[in-house]
Amino acid sequence: MTSLAKKPVENLTSAEAEKELARLAEEMAEHDRHYYLEDAPVISDAAYDALRQRNSAIEARFPKLMRADSPSLRVGAKPSSRFAKVVHRVPMLSLDNAFEDGEVADFVARVRRFLGLGEDHDLVITAEPKIDGLSATLRYENGVFVEGATRGDGMEGEDITANLRTIRDLPLRLKGKAPATFEVRGEVYMTHKSFFALNERQEKEGQKVFANPRNAAAGSVRQLDSKITAARALHFFAYAWGEASEMPAKTQWDMLQQFKAWGFIVNPLIRRCHSSEEILKFYHDIEERRAGLGYDIDGVVYKVDRLDLQERLGFVSRSPRWAIAHKFPAQQADTVLEAIDIQVGRTGVLTPVARLKPVTVGGVVVSNATLHNEDYIAEKDIRIDDTVVVQRAGDVIPQIVRVIEKKRPHGAQPYKFPHTCPACGSHAVREIDEKTGEAEAARRCTGGLICPAQAVERLRHFVGRNAFDIEGLGETYIVLFHDKGLIKEPADIFALARAPERVARALAEHRAALSAERRAKEGKAETKAAKKKEEEGEGKAVENLVAAIDRRRQIPLDRFINALGIRHVGETTAKTIARNYLAVEPFLAAMESAHAVEELDAIEGIGETVAQAVKDFFDEKHNRDLVRHLLKEVEVQPVKAPRTSGSPVAGKTLVFTGTLTKMTRPEAKARAEALGAKVAGSVSKKTDLVIAGPGAGSKLAEAQKHGVEVIDEDGWLKMIGGA
Ligand code: IVH
Repeated sequence: MTSLAKKPVENLTSAEAEKELARLAEEMAEHDRHYYLEDAPVISDAAYDALRQRNSAIEARFPKLMRADSPSLRVGAKPSSRFAKVVHRVPMLSLDNAFEDGEVADFVARVRRFLGLGEDHDLVITAEPKIDGLSATLRYENGVFVEGATRGDGMEGEDITANLRTIRDLPLRLKGKAPATFEVRGEVYMTHKSFFALNERQEKEGQKVFANPRNAAAGSVRQLDSKITAARALHFFAYAWGEASEMPAKTQWDMLQQFKAWGFIVNPLIRRCHSSEEILKFYHDIEERRAGLGYDIDGVVYKVDRLDLQERLGFVSRSPRWAIAHKFPAQQADTVLEAIDIQVGRTGVLTPVARLKPVTVGGVVVSNATLHNEDYIAEKDIRIDDTVVVQRAGDVIPQIVRVIEKKRPHGAQPYKFPHTCPACGSHAVREIDEKTGEAEAARRCTGGLICPAQAVERLRHFVGRNAFDIEGLGETYIVLFHDKGLIKEPADIFALARAPERVARALAEHRAALSAERRAKEGKAETKAAKKKEEEGEGKAVENLVAAIDRRRQIPLDRFINALGIRHVGETTAKTIARNYLAVEPFLAAMESAHAVEELDAIEGIGETVAQAVKDFFDEKHNRDLVRHLLKEVEVQPVKAPRTSGSPVAGKTLVFTGTLTKMTRPEAKARAEALGAKVAGSVSKKTDLVIAGPGAGSKLAEAQKHGVEVIDEDGWLKMIGGA
């Protein structure tokens, strides 16, 4: 984590806030993907909530900086492409969260105030367990189940009709009189018993085990083969609805009674309450019974009972004003920290991991916890042999909350974070952030390619899309060739293309190992025919790979620079450097000079951090060797200087605002800059041109105020000749 990520919201400058919102949007989108599409979250719910709260807090302070892709506007991730899409006729929204009793009382008071209800007015609120599964919508036409879908991003989900049909709690035909169309919504979940049985089976069969029942339910419902779903013992609680041609009731409670009459299962614990005291009593009561329910719940949902009041209350962005989810606090336990292991990530970051005396937290055995980084250990003064409080909040990666100092054994010493890399022995350093002057949170190994933990990642970057772009040379092959000692550094990839027999041997060995594994699992012998077929496929694979490598023996300078994987040098910076030196020889000569840093720093768009990082890279002998070896294999093509003369925007200051549909913001910015324009973040007197897409707000108004020319995206494309 960078130090900016830890800065209190109230101390952020507007520029920092903008940066933070960008980071949070990106990071949360990534987590959404893990959670919703891969059913494999990598952070705890509590940590995710913390990100969301930080995002909202920044937006509250700087409303103008709210991004079009702000996580607060999103409900989940875009659906995965494996299933057909279903556009929800009524969006599937999510709920606001409350964590403290006080927030619940606030909710009730807010509802009363909004509706202008006097004290003597009886406001009925239903309290329902919040089922920790995944929500689904079920469409019934004339009482027959015709379509079922996941929530997806709230607007569009995945068609999982066939899988939902296998769930016995779900009536395929509604009992009694049914409306012409009606969508019942609720939660698909798995009981603890089924979850443990499933994981046992999965483990025996060498299949993926699930972190918790929610992920198991999600993974099961999103199976392409509905026979697998059918074997997974899923359940369904109905609690809400979507499109309805007629409403069979006037309250939430009566709707649930109707659901039961139609043949659905409604959670038996749901109650009607009349005050916040009663609500909170229900909550604490459920919290106590939680462990014995047999399925996971992560809180209680309160809903205004009367549907006419719900309608009056309406929605705010992604959640209804008439409901709130009161979450349970994280589950905790005490245990002893037996050791701290240091893992080296592929970017060289040293990550400490706590090895714990196994302890059960909320029904799950925990034996590891992340310690994040050096500062985290120091701040909490975590020492080996300490007794610590471990927390899981329905989560996957447990956290250490604090140390119980009273239980610290005599002689326990403060933990000394290693200053050398455990994988390769190189120095591990914390770089200073140029802007804040503070050390970065992460300590990194400086070994680069000589560090086995980093080599694979570097090689992967090297062959990646914006670098050498070698088709078919993905992570599996890189790992395989690296493990077999065939490629240690980039030049080896090209050497390998000259020795196809070595590639063939490696692939054959790999295949043999895989099929032996498979045979062991299935207990079947490999047939001759199958083996022959695989060998033929392999011959073709070798041929394709060699051809793909050979196609990249020529590369433009900017891609070459990007491929080297120099810290702080990405695609854009590599282009900037390339445009300055134009060819590889002058570039390398400059890097050997004593004035390299000053020279780089003087390039428009290159700052001191980048300049120093580039120089540091070339100061290392192993990096100079790497480049030398590579130049024996490939030809680096010079880049053309940008043609800005005759460009309609050369020297002008532009501002983009609103949504662009034909290209991303970064791409539009890069194109403008390539044409010699400056791209600014806000409109002022100095702005020459504003390119406004749909949804443009305050910037457009500013432009009009200053009399700045405004064009739309098509006008812009025409101007730069890209329409
Ligand atoms: S009502 C417009 N009721 O919680 C709000 N949701 O954070 C509709 N959930 O997406 C949702 N139990 O997956 C509602 N009794 C319950 C629930 C419940 C679990 C889930 C549901 C929803 C999420 C909201």
